[in-house]
Amino acid sequence: MRKRYFSIVRLLVVVLVVSSTHTVRGVLSSEDTFLWTWIGGSNSTGSSGSYGVQGVPNTSNVPPARYGAVFWTGADGVLWLFGGGSDLRDVFGDLWNYNLSTFSWTWVGGSASLNSAGVYGSRGVPNKSNHPPSRTQSAGWSDSYGNLWLYGGWNFNSGYSDMWMYNVSSGEWTWVQGSNKTNVSPTYGPRGNSSSSNTPGARYKTAAWVGLDDQFYLFGGSGANGSSYGDLWQYNPANNEWSWVGGSQEPDPSGSYGTFRQASPSNYPAGRYGATSWRDLDGNFWLFGGDGEIVRPGGLLNDLWLYNVSSKEWTWMSGDEKIGLNGAVYGEKGVPSSSNTPGYRSFSSGFVDSSNTLYLFGGSSPGACNDLWTFNITSLEWTWVDGDNTTNGAYSYGELNKTSNTTLPPPRYGAVLWDTDQNDPVLFGGLGKPGIYNDLFTLYIATPTPTPTASPTPSVTAEPSATTNVTQTAVGEGSAVCFPADASVLIDGLGNHLQISELRSGMAVMGVNGRGQLVEDSVLGWLHNEAGATAEILAIKTRSGKQLRLTRQHLVYRMIEHSRDFYGMTTAFSCISQKQQQQHQQEHIRQSLELDTSAVEAVFAEEIRVGDALLDVAAHLPDPVVAIETLVTHNGLYAPLTRSGRLVVDGVLVSCYGTYASHAVAHAVLWPARVDALRKVWGSGLGTEGIVGIMPYAERLYHIWTSAARVLTEARVSVVVAAC
Ligand SMILES: *[C@@H]1O[C@H](CO)[C@@H](O)[C@H](O)[C@H]1NC(C)=O
Ligand SMILES: *[C@@H]1O[C@H](CO)[C@@H](O)[C@H](O)[C@H]1NC(C)=O
Ligand SMILES: *[C@@H]1O[C@H](CO)[C@@H](O)[C@H](O)[C@H]1NC(C)=O
Ligand SMILES: *[C@@H]1O[C@H](CO)[C@@H](O)[C@H](O)[C@H]1NC(C)=O
Ligand SMILES: *[C@@H]1O[C@H](CO)[C@@H](O)[C@H](O)[C@H]1NC(C)=O
Ligand SMILES: *[C@@H]1O[C@H](CO)[C@@H](O)[C@H](O)[C@H]1NC(C)=O
Ligand SMILES: *[C@@H]1O[C@H](CO)[C@@H](O)[C@H](O)[C@H]1NC(C)=O
Ligand SMILES: *[C@@H]1O[C@H](CO)[C@@H](O)[C@H](O)[C@H]1NC(C)=O
Ligand SMILES: *[C@@H]1O[C@H](CO)[C@@H](O)[C@H](O)[C@H]1NC(C)=O
Ligand SMILES: *[C@@H]1O[C@H](CO)[C@@H](O)[C@H](O)[C@H]1NC(C)=O
Ligand SMILES: *[C@@H]1O[C@H](CO)[C@@H](O)[C@H](O)[C@H]1NC(C)=O
Ligand SMILES: *[C@@H]1O[C@H](CO)[C@@H](O)[C@H](O)[C@H]1NC(C)=O
Repeated sequence: MRKRYFSIVRLLVVVLVVSSTHTVRGVLSSEDTFLWTWIGGSNSTGSSGSYGVQGVPNTSNVPPARYGAVFWTGADGVLWLFGGGSDLRDVFGDLWNYNLSTFSWTWVGGSASLNSAGVYGSRGVPNKSNHPPSRTQSAGWSDSYGNLWLYGGWNFNSGYSDMWMYNVSSGEWTWVQGSNKTNVSPTYGPRGNSSSSNTPGARYKTAAWVGLDDQFYLFGGSGANGSSYGDLWQYNPANNEWSWVGGSQEPDPSGSYGTFRQASPSNYPAGRYGATSWRDLDGNFWLFGGDGEIVRPGGLLNDLWLYNVSSKEWTWMSGDEKIGLNGAVYGEKGVPSSSNTPGYRSFSSGFVDSSNTLYLFGGSSPGACNDLWTFNITSLEWTWVDGDNTTNGAYSYGELNKTSNTTLPPPRYGAVLWDTDQNDPVLFGGLGKPGIYNDLFTLYIATPTPTPTASPTPSVTAEPSATTNVTQTAVGEGSAVCFPADASVLIDGLGNHLQISELRSGMAVMGVNGRGQLVEDSVLGWLHNEAGATAEILAIKTRSGKQLRLTRQHLVYRMIEHSRDFYGMTTAFSCISQKQQQQHQQEHIRQSLELDTSAVEAVFAEEIRVGDALLDVAAHLPDPVVAIETLVTHNGLYAPLTRSGRLVVDGVLVSCYGTYASHAVAHAVLWPARVDALRKVWGSGLGTEGIVGIMPYAERLYHIWTSAARVLTEARVSVVVAAC
């Protein structure tokens, strides 16, 4: 079943990418689940970039080529970077952002000249003229307010031990903590005890994570005398104090691996620099590889570690205790195996997708790599999924702004890889064999549907408690999957709503990420926008008094029965009393709560029955359906498209999509409409601006889906036709 859906995803993506081909047969054999697009910067090394005017976005701006920059994904989806190395001698001290909506770089602050001294100002006092001295390979974190933090780094001579915060709203840097002197030694203090005099000292090339507890963590890296550390530190941004959490205080430790895949308080990874770090969706930290040559001369590491923040224990999960060079075992592309390994390498880039898979791109082994790997944290297997299986191997820029299955970034390490929305990471710069880059690539990952819904059985709507105004409206090809004009859409975190017909492209609304959390989102355009249209709609009434109105074939999220782990609850929803609900509401008010995605499924509105539960994402509660009615609306039909592909309508979580029975497939297929770069390039074809009625792009899908259905009939996949 899963395999079949996989092919549909591929099929649709490829058809769209090659755009308009009708030879479905050739396309079916393709394996394109990963597609790169070169969207900016130079296709040669050593570019001097273009600063433009400070503070002014411009599509002709681009940062000079660099590697080892510290980077952050802003709370508003804006991508940030600071500093980096220009060569093996000189360092940058400039702050840049890249706006995914305008497709342009802005030189925000800091010096445009190399090796600038910076301005510390007074410790703890923000000031427009403050900025950190130029540096590379710092550690970075963002706090829950979206402010950008950095610690340490070096200028190829001396290491820093200063903590800085950049306030995104005020545009001011603050020297928050640590010393304005270089090459400071660590001060550990007692284990687990936080103090203003503790400091990791001069550090660069460290691994860093933000915990779900909003604490910043830092592991190892290089220190003042070039030593490699194996210590773990915690920084509390609320009181600006460090505490030493674990690992060795000695430089160059050989680690304590313990028993393979067994957690222990005495385990810790060997000292290293240039490791790759991830935080998975459950809040656990992962650490891979890096350079251990200082510890045991002559080699790189390939070990993968898990750190559990609550138990404070490390577990050696994969790889070996040895050091080595290269040693990758690729296996067959796309096929997981317990014998696969990316091999010994350092300075790879990582990110986590919405299904909690770890991704590893490139690195130095010590030749530069451009392979893409996944690590499944359940099966504990590596898979080589994309890119070249040699070092300093093949690559192709393709045409600027054109997605192609032959585009592949040049091999590199020390690159920036922003995780934009757990699905479409953006790659910038890095160091390769021929030199240093400032190119920008997007990576599209076609995520398969985890649990495809069964094909719908239309017409039967069980237990509608009342039937008012039933009119058999003509519902045929191109039937609408929309909301009526007066449906209300949640537009901010304060609970404000706007009538759906009043939304405009670019407006802020609340979306919902793959973990069921409310996120700031925006209207990218319309899948359907037709004032005055008439259609039959369902009004689904819930116990809490909400009424969701939408067309029959729109996707809505239903809690899967007997699932007992919804938002961490152990009680089935039907047993929750009003009072318990209120208690849960208070307990679960924290944004960090996440939905177990296997607890919900996207189904057609017409499949919802009395007794099913919809999702009130604001309250983090299931909301049981008490009645379903059929109505007719005469005021028009609206279906906005958001970046997350989800929105909150009439208080309930819904998908932006309909007609096709899988949210994930629709989301994948409409990817070009969500990626601003592509939306612009294919603007007229996508038609998300100023359209009336059905978006032309969505209409085109109808034809693609029907031809796909013909090819796949023997597979008995019910490909439900047409978008609205
Ligand atoms: C790329 O896509 C084209 C057109 O769909 C297909 O013919 C070709 O086999 C694909 N190439 C690779 C390397 O997958
Ligand atoms: C680099 O890009 C330019 C402009 O897009 C193109 O003319 C040139 O052929 C490209 N060079 C390489 C090596 O791809
Ligand atoms: C953007 O930069 C280009 C090249 O430097 C310049 O010609 C143009 O006027 C700039 N546009 C804006 C809006 O500043
Ligand atoms: C990004 O661009 C959009 C559209 O122009 C704008 O509204 C937004 O403020 C920009 N964000 C930043 C941080 O500059
Ligand atoms: C900010 O820095 C400037 C230049 O160093 C200084 O003149 C000014 O007094 C500072 N302002 C504050 C509020 O500290
Ligand atoms: C950031 O700046 C804004 C606007 O000046 C201010 O309201 C906010 O308190 C600042 N945040 C921090 C953490 O200093
Ligand atoms: C470093 O900080 C100390 C204490 O805040 C201050 O006295 C000194 O002038 C600073 N030095 C530089 C170079 O900023
Ligand atoms: C832990 O830190 C606190 C406050 O900094 C200090 O009073 C206390 O003595 C420390 N504990 C130990 C065991 O050093
Ligand atoms: C990861 O492995 C588990 C167990 O083998 C499997 O059920 C799951 O589908 C895999 N995840 C992905 C994204 O392939
Ligand atoms: C790399 O991939 C190619 C083609 O898939 C294959 O022929 C070759 O044996 C692979 N080499 C290694 C080292 O895996
Ligand atoms: C690529 O897209 C960017 C952003 O929209 C645009 O500035 C640039 O002109 C495009 N270049 C080409 C060759 O299409
Ligand atoms: C049925 O629809 C008509 C036309 O919109 C409306 O005037 C009437 O009030 C509706 N009746 C009910 C019971 O909702």
